[in-house]
Amino acid sequence: MSSYAAFHNAEDFPEPEKFDPTRFLNKETVDGELFYPFGAGTRICVGRRFAMLEMTMVMAMFFRRYEFDLNPATKDKVKAKSHITLTPMDGVHMFVRQRRAHL
Ligand code: HEM
Repeated sequence: MSSYAAFHNAEDFPEPEKFDPTRFLNKETVDGELFYPFGAGTRICVGRRFAMLEMTMVMAMFFRRYEFDLNPATKDKVKAKSHITLTPMDGVHMFVRQRRAHL
């Protein structure tokens, strides 16, 4: 089963194209059987806990030092290009500003 197709099933993920990180605050969605970015079963990703920790730390470091705003040059609907993973076809253009003071 394609995880892309599963994660775009509007019954489980309403308005699947909408950027809505709050949908992942729903414990049932994230911890249940609906969301499995690291696979499932006996061959589930062995690096999943490390990957989640690393991503959380990297994001925290970025957002502590910089502010990010979407540049209008980014198209309304970001199309995906397929490589080993999906990447944005025309990029996602951002304004990045260093925060004045960070702890
Ligand atoms: C965002 C980061 C990552 C994603 C989305 C991801 C996703 C996946 C997926 C979908 C699988 C296949 C699971 C299956 O066949 O059901 C997998 C397997 C695997 N991943 Fe990851 N992974 C990530 C990071 C990592 C990291 C950081 C490591 C190592 C430090 C790692 C090591 C592995 C290994 C060794 C397997 C093969 C497990 C097996 O076949 O028994 N992954 N991963």
